[in-house]
Amino acid sequence: MQNLNRRRVLTLGAALGLATVTDPTKAWAWSSANSIAGTDTITDPWKVWDDATDPLVAALLENGQIPAVNTAFDSWVNNGDPLPAGLPANLTAYLQQVNTLPSWADQAKLARAAQFNKRMSMYLFLLYGLGSGIMSTVIPREARNVYWSAGGAEMQSRAAKTFTYGYDLSALDAFQPTGHFVVTSNKTRLTHAAVRHLLPQSPQWRAVTNDQDFIPISNGDILVTFHSLGTFVYGKLKSWGIRISAAEEDAFLHMWQVALHLLGVRDDFIPASWAAAKQQSAYVLTPIMAPTPEGINLADVLLGLVKQVDLGVTQGFQREFARYLLSDKVGDWLKLPRDLVSRSVIELGWPTYVAFREGLSPIMPTTFSMFDQFVRGLAMLFLNNGTSPSYTPITIPTGNRPA
Ligand code: HEM
Repeated sequence: MQNLNRRRVLTLGAALGLATVTDPTKAWAWSSANSIAGTDTITDPWKVWDDATDPLVAALLENGQIPAVNTAFDSWVNNGDPLPAGLPANLTAYLQQVNTLPSWADQAKLARAAQFNKRMSMYLFLLYGLGSGIMSTVIPREARNVYWSAGGAEMQSRAAKTFTYGYDLSALDAFQPTGHFVVTSNKTRLTHAAVRHLLPQSPQWRAVTNDQDFIPISNGDILVTFHSLGTFVYGKLKSWGIRISAAEEDAFLHMWQVALHLLGVRDDFIPASWAAAKQQSAYVLTPIMAPTPEGINLADVLLGLVKQVDLGVTQGFQREFARYLLSDKVGDWLKLPRDLVSRSVIELGWPTYVAFREGLSPIMPTTFSMFDQFVRGLAMLFLNNGTSPSYTPITIPTGNRPA
C-alpha cells in the first residue's frame, strides 16, 4: 500500500464521509475477528485472488473457448435460468458450485434491502454514478486496470456494463429466481478472472503498474472497490441526515456482503458490521487514493458521458457536484474545472433539498426544482442505459486495450 501523510488521510476520509484511523497500520490489520467468518486469523487479502476461478478461465482463454462461452451466456440472464447448454464441461461443473447464494444469506434481509434501495433510488443513482464512479478513477490500481483492459477503450459500453451490475443488484427481485444479480455476479467474477490472466500480458500496463506481483484484482482490491461503493454511499446518506432504520442499515450491508461473496471474496475478509466496514475502509481505501494519468483520462470520459443528456444544469454545476461529493482534493487531482457560483448554490441548496424531500423540513428551497431535475435526469440516464434495447450484457474479454 502506498503511504499518504496522516493529515491528508484524515482530511480525505472526513470529506468522503468515511471514517479515518490515526494509524492505518494498526487498524483492521486483517484479523478476521470482525468478518463474517469471525475466525480471528490474519491473512493478507492482497495476496488472495480466486483459486476456484482463475485457472479455469485461464485455460478457457488459452484454448480459445471464451467467444463461444459469451455466445452461450446470451441466453443466461435470470437467476432461475438453467445453465446454458453447450458450455465446456469444466465451466458447467464450476457454475453448478458457485451459482448459488452463500449458506448465510438471509432472504428476509435481502428483501428489506431491496425495499430500501427502492426508497433511496434517487440518491443511489447520484451517489453510485457521480460519486463512486468518479471515485474509482482515483483508486490507482483500478484506474490503471480499467484503462489498460479491453473495456478501457470503450468507456461508454463499459459504463453501461457496470451499470448493468448496479441495476441488477438494486432491483426488487435481485436475488429472486426472476432477478438477474446472481448470474450477473458470476459473469463479473469470470470477467475479473480473465483480466487477471490477460492484463499481465499487456506491455503498456506492465510499464505503468507499480504492483510487485503483477496479478490484478486481488480480494483486497475488490474490498477497496466495495468501500468506494457501499461504504461510501452509506456514509453519505447518513451524513445527509436521511432516516435509515437499524434494520435497513443491516439489510443494506447484508446485500453487499452477499455481493462480495458472489464476486469470490473470502468470508474472512467480508466485514460483519458497518463499524468493521468503516474501519476496514479507513485502512484500505482512504490511504491509497491518488491521481494517475489513466484515472484523469477516465474521469474526463465518464463526465463526458453525463454531458450527453440535459440535466437542466451546466457542466460546471455537474463537475462542482462531483467535487462536493468527493472533496476538492479529489476534484483537483482530476483537474475538474471550478465553478464557484454553482458551488455556493450546491452548498446552500442541496442540504435544504434533501431535508425538504425527506420531510425533515417544511421549507421548500427556491432551488428545489433545479436539484429535482438534476437527480431525476441522472436517474433516467442510468435507467435508459439499463432497460433500453441498448442494454449491454457483460461479456468476458479476450484481450487488452489495443496499443
Ligand atoms: C469488469 C464490477 C472490482 C477491474 C467488471 C464488470 C463489472 C465489475 C460489473 C463487467 C463490466 C465490464 O466488463 O466492463 C466490479 C465490482 C467490484 C469490482 C462490483 C467490487 C465490488 C474491481 C477491481 C478492479 C476491477 C478491484 C481492479 C483493481 C475490472 C476490469 C474489468 C472489470 C479491468 C474488465 C473491463 C474490460 O476490459 O472489459 N467489474 N468490479 N474491478 N473490472 Fe470490476
